[in-house]
Amino acid sequence: MHMVELKGVSKAFGDVDAVSNVDLTIREGEFVTLLGPSGSGKTTLLNLIAGMATPSAGRIEIRGRDVTHSSASERDLGMVFQNYALMPHMSVFENIAFPLRVRRLSRQEIERKVNDVLDLVQLPQIKDRKPRELSGGQQQRVALARCIVYNPALILLDEPLGALDKKLREYMQLEIRRVHAELGITMLNVTHDQDEALTMSDRIVLMNQGRIEQQDTPEQLYFRPKSVFAADFIGTANLVECEVSAVNGDRVRVTGAAGAFEVTEVEADVAVGDRVTSVIRPENVEVRAAGDDRESTGSDNPWIEAVVKDSLIVGGVVRHYLTIAGDVPVVAQQANSRSRLLLSHGDRVSLRWAQNDCRIIAC
Ligand SMILES: Nc1ncnc2c1ncn2[C@@H]1O[C@H](COP(=O)(O)OP(=O)(O)OP(=O)(O)O)[C@@H](O)[C@H]1O
Ligand SMILES: [Mg+2]
Repeated sequence: MHMVELKGVSKAFGDVDAVSNVDLTIREGEFVTLLGPSGSGKTTLLNLIAGMATPSAGRIEIRGRDVTHSSASERDLGMVFQNYALMPHMSVFENIAFPLRVRRLSRQEIERKVNDVLDLVQLPQIKDRKPRELSGGQQQRVALARCIVYNPALILLDEPLGALDKKLREYMQLEIRRVHAELGITMLNVTHDQDEALTMSDRIVLMNQGRIEQQDTPEQLYFRPKSVFAADFIGTANLVECEVSAVNGDRVRVTGAAGAFEVTEVEADVAVGDRVTSVIRPENVEVRAAGDDRESTGSDNPWIEAVVKDSLIVGGVVRHYLTIAGDVPVVAQQANSRSRLLLSHGDRVSLRWAQNDCRIIAC
C-alpha cells in the first residue's frame, strides 16, 4: 500500500501558486526528499501532507484513507522542525515522554519506550539534562526521538539539520539514515541542500516554482537529468549551448562554441537544426597540459583549446576554471592527488569529454 498519495494537489496564497497540480506517491518505508530552491513550495507541500494547511484543489491520501480535510492529529504522523521546538523547562526524558503522556500510556511503558528510543539515538546518558544544556546535534536527536517514540506511520522533517554546522550535519544525515533503516518508518525530508538530498534519499523530488521538475533516485537525477534546471540544480554542471548538426542513430553531432563533438546520451528526440544544451559534469572534463600531445583516436571527441582563469583546491578535489572560444566558461575537476596538473591563470590547455559523458537536453 502507498503511505502517501497526492493527486492534483494545489495550494494558492492569493495570486501566488505555492504548489501547482502535484501528483506524488510515497511508498511505505521509503525515504523521500523534497529538494528545490527557496520559494519552490517544499514547506507548503509538507504542510499540506501534515494537515497544517488545506489544499485549494486535489486530494491527499495517507494509507489509502482520504485525509484531504482531516486535522493534523488524525493523520498518524510526526514532525521534526529546523528549530527543534523542545520544551525548555522539561528534561530530555520529559520532552520525549510528553507525546506518550498525551496518549495516556502507563508509567512503566513510558519509562521503557523513552529509554529504548534514547538508546536508538545514542543519548542514554543525558536524559536528565535540560535542552539548553545540550549541543545543537544532541537537541536535534532529542527532537527526532520525541517523534519516533510514539511510532507514527510517517515522519515529516522540514530542514531538520539547517541549524547545524557542516560536520555535524553530515554526521546527523547518516544518523537519520541509520534510524530510518533500523525502524523502517517512512520519512519525508525537506531540504534545499542537494548534497544532503543525494546522501540521504531513496528518491528525490525536485521542486521548481510549485511543480515537480523531476522525481528519481539520486543516481538517476545526477546522471540523467531531464531538464537544464535539474542538471544545474543537482551537482555542478557545465552547460554549453549547441546546435544539432547530424543525427546518426543514437549518436548525435552538435556544433557550438566548443566546436563540433559527438554525444551518445540524448534526453529527447532531436533533429538537425535544433538548439540544445550539452551538460558535462566537471569530473568528466579531461584536461591536457601544453606539450602533452596525446591525440584523439577513433570514437574520442577532438581536443578543444582552452585558457586557464583560475585553479582552486576544494578539499579532495582541484577545480580548474577555464574558458573556451567565445568566452564560454568550463569547469574541470580532478582528484587532488600528487599527479594532478598544476595550472595557473593564463596557461593554455586542451580539454575534451567522452561521448557518453555528455548529455544533450532540448532547450
Ligand atoms: N502563508 C503564506 N501566505 C502567502 N504566501 C505564502 C505563504 N506561505 C508560502 N507562501 C509563498 O508560497 C511560495 C512557496 O513557499 P514555501 O515556503 O513552500 O517555499 P520553500 O520551498 O519551503 O522555500 P524555503 O527553502 O525558502 O523554505 C513562496 O512564494 C512563498 O512566498
Ligand atoms: Mg521551507
